[in-house]
Amino acid sequence: MERLDKAFSSCKLYSRSEITKIIKQKRITVNGVIINDPSFKIDVNTDKILLDGKEVEFNKFVYIMLNKPQGVVSSTDDGRDKTVIDILPDSFKRDGLFPVGRLDKDTVGLVILTDDGISSHKRLSPKTHAEKVYYFETAEEVSSEVALEIESGVLLKDGYKTLPCKINLLSKTSGEITLVEGKYHEIKRIFGAKSNKITYLKRISFGGIILDETLPEGSCRYLTKEEQKLFTK
Ligand code: URA
Repeated sequence: MERLDKAFSSCKLYSRSEITKIIKQKRITVNGVIINDPSFKIDVNTDKILLDGKEVEFNKFVYIMLNKPQGVVSSTDDGRDKTVIDILPDSFKRDGLFPVGRLDKDTVGLVILTDDGISSHKRLSPKTHAEKVYYFETAEEVSSEVALEIESGVLLKDGYKTLPCKINLLSKTSGEITLVEGKYHEIKRIFGAKSNKITYLKRISFGGIILDETLPEGSCRYLTKEEQKLFTK
């Protein structure tokens, strides 16, 4: 169940103020009854909602792009730290939302949040090999030889050999790395295995969805229809 005005804003057809106006103009019926209270609770899956007599198509699920700032954890609840859910504006919050995959507390950038468990599972499945692109900065210089070694796979301390990846060096101590897997602290451990240290990490793309650079850190927006398609394909 969610508020009538919120359900409309997540289907992105109208702004929040337009919806409030439409509701006040008594143009919406829920199961045949005119509703003029924006906080009226509806279930988009079972209620029949008409605007000007025409049935409204609500998105069953929501898909949100967040530019995660440092110091925020990628989980739904945490006793100590702020989570990616805590920092969402109230109008984006909804039951069942979770982040798709995890970024470390000190990693910034693209996090997708959804309540669509099936698509999320598919995107994260190792079989999908969804590409994740990160911008990184390191404490020590990265030679092109070391970049090549990393690209062909690195033996981590726990004995795991990473899958081949791509590195595009941008300077002696920065670059972009594209992974098709997502092991715990993977990039930090890869560079650690090469006696280096990650000093800054930002995810800039996930499964073809590119972080919107106009989104300041800590801000979010809904995925566009095209981005949704990339996520749910
Ligand atoms: N690799 C890391 O080490 N940290 C992240 O947050 C993501 C990938």
